[in-house]
Formats: sequence, C-alpha cells, structure tokens
Amino acid sequence: MKIFLDTAILDEIRAAVAWGILDGVTTNPTLAARAGRAFKENIVAISEIIGSQATVSAETVSLEAEAMVREAELVTSWAPNVLAKIPCTPEGLKAVRRCTEAGIPTNVTLVFNATQGLLAMKAGATYVSPFLGRIDDAGQNGMEVVKQLVHIKQNYDFATEVLAASIRHPLHVIEAALIGADIATMPFKILTQIIKHPLTDTGLKRFLDDWQTIPEGLRPF
Ligand code: G3P
Repeated sequence: MKIFLDTAILDEIRAAVAWGILDGVTTNPTLAARAGRAFKENIVAISEIIGSQATVSAETVSLEAEAMVREAELVTSWAPNVLAKIPCTPEGLKAVRRCTEAGIPTNVTLVFNATQGLLAMKAGATYVSPFLGRIDDAGQNGMEVVKQLVHIKQNYDFATEVLAASIRHPLHVIEAALIGADIATMPFKILTQIIKHPLTDTGLKRFLDDWQTIPEGLRPF
C-alpha cells in the first residue's frame, strides 16, 4: 500500500521523506489555507521535496467543468508529478472525463459512497478518494465504502487507484491495508503514531542499558 501524507506543511513532508516511506501528498483548500503560503509556490515546493516518483494532488476550486479543466491544466503544468484533485459532482465528473482524454491525471475527491466512486473510475480518474472518516462521522461505515470500491475496481479491472482518505486513527490504516486499498493518505500525526509503539521504546531502553553492562573493550561501539 502506498502511504501519502495529507498536509501542505513542508516540514512534515520533509520528515516523512527522510523516513523513506512517503509515496505522495494530498492537499485540499483547507490544508492549503493552513500552510499560509502562496498556493503555487507551495505545491511546487512539495513536488520537489517528494521527488519525481511521488505525486502531489492540488485541488481545483471552480464549480463548473470548463473552469475546472482550466485549473487542472494549470496546476498540472507546474510539475510533472502534480495531479488535479476534482470534487465528485456532475460537473466534476465531466471535467475528469475531459482531463482523462487530455492525459491530465486526476484525483476525484469528496467521494462518500461506492456509486460515486464507480462513476469516477468510469470517467478515468487516476485516484478515487473515499472520505472514510467523514462517512463514519455521518453514522455510516466508511471502511465499507473503501472495501466496495476495491471490489468494483477488481471486478472490472479499472486502472483507478483507491485512495483511502480522511483517515482518523491507526486502525483505519491497518483496515485499509487489509482490504487492499492502493493508497492511504493520513495526517502527519497519524503517520507518527503508526511508527511509534511504547513497547518499542521501553524494549530499546532495556537493550541499551544491558549493552552498557558489556565491558567497553568487548564491544565495537
Ligand atoms: O484527504 C481527505 C482529507 O483531507 C479530509 O480529511 O480529516 O478533514 O475529514 P478530514
């Protein structure tokens, strides 16, 4: 499973790149506003930090298809690894289809059920992003939508990658991986949580304490 960070904060992205496990970044207008920098400058900086093998999604903000396509053309012209993130509305789907025909990669966002996701796949989306945490918030089962989309993708051999988004805790990451989601995008806090374990810390302390009991001349470092 690919691991993406859901952030526009450069220091968080640099840290994850240094850990060697980052496959991409997703942003949205809320995250872009939090970054407090010019949007283009920030997306270009992210694209350089993550490198050419990873992708960054930059969201369009217009509501009608033609303007969405223009924005998608613009953001994807900034660097080869930028995708246009487009909301799953009727106009959004129209824009995604046009982007697909023009060879512009897209991430269909704000997906809340499997039928929306199916249509995004049919429109040729590169990624489809079910918002599982927000589905849970609405009293439904977000992971079930991820599961349905993974099955639909397999049934019809769609090229679209299923991107589990709106991840709220480490269990979401495990469940997404068990289900076979292609990608999970998560806030930096959750990426940190899934690396750390208190028993790793206490176990390491014990090992290091015991190591010190070996006489200095008998250990290489
Ligand atoms: O990638 C989707 C994400 O940005 C939404 O997450 O936590 O705001 O529901 P959240």
